[in-house]
Amino acid sequence: MNDNLTPSLAKVGDKPLRIALYPGTFDPITNGHVNIIERGLSLFDRIIVTIAVNAQKIPCFPLEQRMDMIRQCFPDSDQVSVGHTDGLIVDFALRHGAQTIIRGLRMVSDFEYEFQMALMNRRLERSVDTVFLMTGFRWFFISSSGIKDTAQRQGKITGLVPKHVERALREKFT
Ligand code: COA
Repeated sequence: MNDNLTPSLAKVGDKPLRIALYPGTFDPITNGHVNIIERGLSLFDRIIVTIAVNAQKIPCFPLEQRMDMIRQCFPDSDQVSVGHTDGLIVDFALRHGAQTIIRGLRMVSDFEYEFQMALMNRRLERSVDTVFLMTGFRWFFISSSGIKDTAQRQGKITGLVPKHVERALREKFT
């Protein structure tokens, strides 16, 4: 098993902390993802943004770069950490004391996929629950692949991703 997490945030102190995982491919992180994390912070003490493997996807950015891009979105936060796993997300949750998985919903079309994944995770581990947050209206239409496709064709992605992600996309596709 290959996973990784900033050690200080893996520890739960005397008081039970509300720890959530926010898993995904994050290839790359977008402002829609950032919006979900920021709003999640009002519900949870800590969020572990966890890069996991979606067997259907071949990422464009290497793992370390994707992790770095996420870290740079929250440089001063001790509530957000970044981890990765090539195993099951519920196993990662158990190892790091997380009771909840956060997923963002954009359109009705996300629902079936998300519902299946939440039920599968519940089947695998009943103590870990999934909560869904509605993606902010401004980010309803964006996806990582839509942004990569636009950047590759030299289209405007300003405002859809953090500045450092925009730079990384420009470097990749010019
Ligand atoms: N704003 C913008 N875009 C969003 C978004 C938001 N708030 N929420 C989702 N998206 C987009 C992403 O950009 C991504 O777009 P893309 O398909 O164009 O890349 C898409 O919605 C979904 O991606 P993401 O949220 O990164 O999830 P994913 O489907 O790639 O990840 C895993 C799925 C990795 C979480 C899942 O496969 C997993 O848990 N793997 C580990 C193995 C496991 O535990 N399996 C058993 C459970 S099924």
